[in-house]
Amino acid sequence: MSYPLIAPSILAADFANLQRDIEVLNNSEADWIHVDIMDGVFVPNISFGLPVCEAVHRHAKKPLDVHLMIVQPEQYVEAFAKAGATTITVHLEACTHLHRVLQQIRDLGCKAGVALNPHTSVRLLENVLHDLDMILLMSVNPGFGGQKFIEQTLPKTRQLRQMLQEAGSAALIEVDGGIDTSNAAALVEAGAHVLVAGSSVFRAENPADAIIRLKQVGQRAEA
Ligand code: DX5
Ligand code: ZN
Repeated sequence: MSYPLIAPSILAADFANLQRDIEVLNNSEADWIHVDIMDGVFVPNISFGLPVCEAVHRHAKKPLDVHLMIVQPEQYVEAFAKAGATTITVHLEACTHLHRVLQQIRDLGCKAGVALNPHTSVRLLENVLHDLDMILLMSVNPGFGGQKFIEQTLPKTRQLRQMLQEAGSAALIEVDGGIDTSNAAALVEAGAHVLVAGSSVFRAENPADAIIRLKQVGQRAEA
């Protein structure tokens, strides 16, 4: 596998032309399609839900990377697995019984991810490192696309990568929020495997080219 993987977020797509934008991703170097689910409770915004995820799945030729920014995710993981998710990521801050939810996700045949808000320490994952497939570090406060990248994510990524190495974990590190060609290389160098990008892809004149540029910048940092 060559890193970084690029996961464009359809939160920044044109919802009135979603099929067209999915086709753009199908015909691009994008590795995954990042699907941001917001419930208006865990985060101060509502995005879209299960029917949209199902519809995206019908057209997508790439794995769906579903990011649940919702309370009580345990009530919905099965439905999102049925709606076509390959990876399901829940927020640590939304789970009283994180270990149980991760097991639930894996039992559904999906990859299990845990997302951390900017203020949440990676050390809180120490005891579940072997129960997850991916850690998503938020590099903005979740809820909106188009926000400014929080620089503290760089040392945090480094710290997490070291923790994973010491634990012998093969979990992937995904970083999400405010990512463009100005910070992609530093993130990969710090240890990120997967870069989520919404605005920098869909606001670009040519989204497919923007994806290639992100990947190339990252690959140079990885080499
Ligand atoms: C934010 C979402 C992100 C967002 C990224 O709550 O989790 O995935 O769509 O968008 P940009 O790249 O615009 O910050
Ligand atoms: Zn996201």
